[in-house]
Amino acid sequence: MAKLQDVFNKLKEVRIEEVEKDIVTLGLVRDLAVEGNTVSFSLKIPAGEDAIELEKRVKEKVKELDWVEKTDIKIEKHSVEAPKLGKEAEKAKGPQKIEGVKRILVVASGKGGVGKSTVAANLAIAISLKGKKVGLFDGDVYGPSIPKMFGIEGMVPRVKDNKMVPVERYGIKLLSIGLMLDDSTPVIWRGPLVHKAYQQFFFDTIWGDLDYLVVDFPPGTGDAQISAAQLIKIDGAVIVTTPQDVALLDVRRATNMFVKMQVPVLGVVENMSYFKCPKCGEVTRIFGKGGGEKLGKEMGLPLLGEIPIDPDVVQQGDLGMPAVAMSGDHPVAKEFIKVAERVLSAFE
Ligand SMILES: Nc1ncnc2c1ncn2[C@@H]1O[C@H](COP(=O)(O)OP(=O)(O)OP(=O)(O)O)[C@@H](O)[C@H]1O
Ligand SMILES: [Mg+2]
Repeated sequence: MAKLQDVFNKLKEVRIEEVEKDIVTLGLVRDLAVEGNTVSFSLKIPAGEDAIELEKRVKEKVKELDWVEKTDIKIEKHSVEAPKLGKEAEKAKGPQKIEGVKRILVVASGKGGVGKSTVAANLAIAISLKGKKVGLFDGDVYGPSIPKMFGIEGMVPRVKDNKMVPVERYGIKLLSIGLMLDDSTPVIWRGPLVHKAYQQFFFDTIWGDLDYLVVDFPPGTGDAQISAAQLIKIDGAVIVTTPQDVALLDVRRATNMFVKMQVPVLGVVENMSYFKCPKCGEVTRIFGKGGGEKLGKEMGLPLLGEIPIDPDVVQQGDLGMPAVAMSGDHPVAKEFIKVAERVLSAFE
């Protein structure tokens, strides 16, 4: 028993960096057994992961136990499932379609505060201006900001036949955990809880017929993103970044995670790209230039748009009326409409 526990502990030290979890937690190790000084188990290789490299890392880790003479690892290559997350996910049936919803888009970033929610809100409205039926789900259970951005704070979604009915604003069907909590409620979410909450928001909600459901993710590459990919079939991810060089690292991380989960990455929106002086029209690239181009070259990702820094964006956020809802002529709104066109062109 002690030997088995030792092997188990060693395996827990092998991590898949993109999802910040170890291979045991991800459920990649099965049928672990120790017979004499031989360790055997099967190892599932998540899609996108280098099987040889992972096997080598696992072997080396197990061999650190000096009593181990032989390792017998059965490799199960390129699982079609995303890495699993604990017991809750074990039960999952794999990504499902949401009834009535044609396509699901997610807005994500490796880093916080880069403008995901701003992009998600404006993208949703811009897509609806193209004549599509659109829903927006605030998947940021840790820091929901969609209610404020749409001026729907305090509105409680109706319940019909035990299902939630989204709130509507600017033609968009909206749902956020923020509508279920009062401001003072601290939200402490562990992975399995996020999974459960997502399950309800996706499947126990009357979304109705939608052409696109946009999901605003919390920052990073954690439980929320993994849970979503396990529950729903995501048709495309839009990555948001700011132009600094360091942000590129975060984009790479987020992109790798989606590739691993077999979610198509549609491209990158560079937010806070530049500042255009309202008086003289001069453009200043405050955070440097060419970040988007670099991305394109390095990762083969299209640049979906460059959104300027504009004090109006902050004001619109506070007013509860995103740029595109306020006026399609605003320079920021125009750029978001371009982003929406590029996103739609991936599907239509
Ligand atoms: N282009 C822009 N110009 C000026 N301010 C902006 C711009 N984009 C976003 N902001 C402001 O930056 C702040 C962060 O934006 P937002 O909430 O969209 O980021 P986020 O990535 O969703 O953050 P979090 O990681 O906390 O969810 C907000 O106050 C928003 O109004
Ligand atoms: Mg946000």
